[in-house]
Amino acid sequence: MVSPPKRSAREFLDTPGQNRVELEGLLGDIRRTNRRFGGYPLVLRYLRRFLPRLPHGPITVLDVATASADIPRVIALWARAHHLPIRIVALDLSEDILALAKSGIASYPEVTLLRGNALSLPFPDRAIDVVICGLALHHFTFEDAGRVLREIDRVASGGFIVNDIGRSWGAYLGALLDTRLFTRNRLARHDGPLSVLRSFTVSEVHTMVAAAGVRNVDVRRHPWFRIAVVRWPDGPSGEGVHASGARAVARVHE
Ligand SMILES: C[S@@+](CC[C@H](N)C(=O)[O-])C[C@H]1O[C@@H](n2cnc3c(N)ncnc32)[C@H](O)[C@@H]1O
Repeated sequence: MVSPPKRSAREFLDTPGQNRVELEGLLGDIRRTNRRFGGYPLVLRYLRRFLPRLPHGPITVLDVATASADIPRVIALWARAHHLPIRIVALDLSEDILALAKSGIASYPEVTLLRGNALSLPFPDRAIDVVICGLALHHFTFEDAGRVLREIDRVASGGFIVNDIGRSWGAYLGALLDTRLFTRNRLARHDGPLSVLRSFTVSEVHTMVAAAGVRNVDVRRHPWFRIAVVRWPDGPSGEGVHASGARAVARVHE
């Protein structure tokens, strides 16, 4: 199906100075999206598979562009349930958003908030076992999204899980319907459908990965129009599908 045309209009989420209550509502809608539309299981599913390939001892995770740090909290609960020592850094550029995230992580000593820029992550090479990044690539231009992927690739010593919505009519109509039916938040009604139009198609993600020179990744389709770019920890993936960064050999998994 032909995808809707790409848009680059600015989201409220990226515009400092929003009303605090409205911004809190928008973050709540993003959490609802993750809860209802596959955000949490996608990350946990890969983490479970990464686990046997990660070094023993506390696992370190970096969540890039964390927003309200809901994914780190879900990971912390999962780790507690499995008695896994874990340390999670939840990084975001926005001071306003990090201030709102603070109360949510009060009972999660595993999670540390950090202000930082995804375009230049404040960590040495291979400093973190697993780097994750959800629903954020569309906040960047094509070139900058490639830079973010390169930064994530540089910092991750084990693997990484990057996911975002893929631009398609289905995702757009779904976001439109969802934000008309299930929220009255003005920012979410604007940003939800716009996010889809700002996002990248599977084919664009392939081109981005190749242009960024990020190698040994899989590009996969997931339910609810999500696309994941995954680098598996070293060793045979058991998935039988390592694809090099070159477009010709990168694969899409339906
Ligand atoms: C849609 S939210 C991501 C939500 C969350 N990661 C998830 O999976 O639900 C996008 C986030 O990207 C953050 N962001 C935008 N530009 C950034 C940058 N250059 N560096 C770090 N974070 C950035 C925004 O502040 C916002 O919190």
